[in-house]
Amino acid sequence: MFRRVEAGEGEALADFLAGEPWPFHVHTAVERADVLERVKAGYYDETYWIEVAGERAGIVRLFDLQDETPMFDLRVSERHRGRGLGRAAVRWLTDEVFGEHPHVERIEATTRQDNLAMRRVLKQCGYVKEAHYRRAWPDGDGRRLDSVGYAVIRHDWQTGETTVPDFHDED
Ligand SMILES: CC(C)(COP(=O)(O)OP(=O)(O)OC[C@H]1O[C@@H](n2cnc3c(N)ncnc32)[C@H](O)[C@@H]1OP(=O)(O)O)[C@@H](O)C(=O)NCCC(=O)NCCS
Repeated sequence: MFRRVEAGEGEALADFLAGEPWPFHVHTAVERADVLERVKAGYYDETYWIEVAGERAGIVRLFDLQDETPMFDLRVSERHRGRGLGRAAVRWLTDEVFGEHPHVERIEATTRQDNLAMRRVLKQCGYVKEAHYRRAWPDGDGRRLDSVGYAVIRHDWQTGETTVPDFHDED
């Protein structure tokens, strides 16, 4: 179900990303040419297809994997949403990153405050809200929306616990 994007699949990746709008990303429209340029630059080297019955239904791009806190981009095409793929993808990438990269302590994800589907997926997969950034997310219409930051820590992944930050540590 999860398969690394291979070297010869740049065109397929460009088709996928440019094939529909991504309303919860800062750049809602992706240009094919930009994807092809970024493929050459190695930007998608840690990218995986989410496949359903042989069809490309989404992608997971891992980045900053050399850091203690890598991040990811997750996109499921509209017609495949709402069937558990997002949740399966976050569970899979969390196991993959912690399992294969022993130096990783945390995995972070930031999304727009109103991206309720992504927030639900993160919460269901053991990610905890750690940050709230006011007016931090410019959208294409000149509005500024809040963004929210989530993370899962290795300790919680290993133990099944949910550690929450102490937000009430001021006078
Ligand atoms: C966010 C995204 C990855 C989720 O993928 P998905 O395959 O639809 O996710 P799932 O089916 O596993 O779960 C979605 C959950 O959100 C819930 N949900 C969906 N829309 C919702 C809404 N508007 N309000 C509240 N909950 C919502 C679903 O009911 C489901 O929860 P449930 O299984 O408990 O009922 C997908 O919507 C997507 O690719 N969106 C566009 C790209 C994007 O926003 N990526 C994240 C960037 S940080």
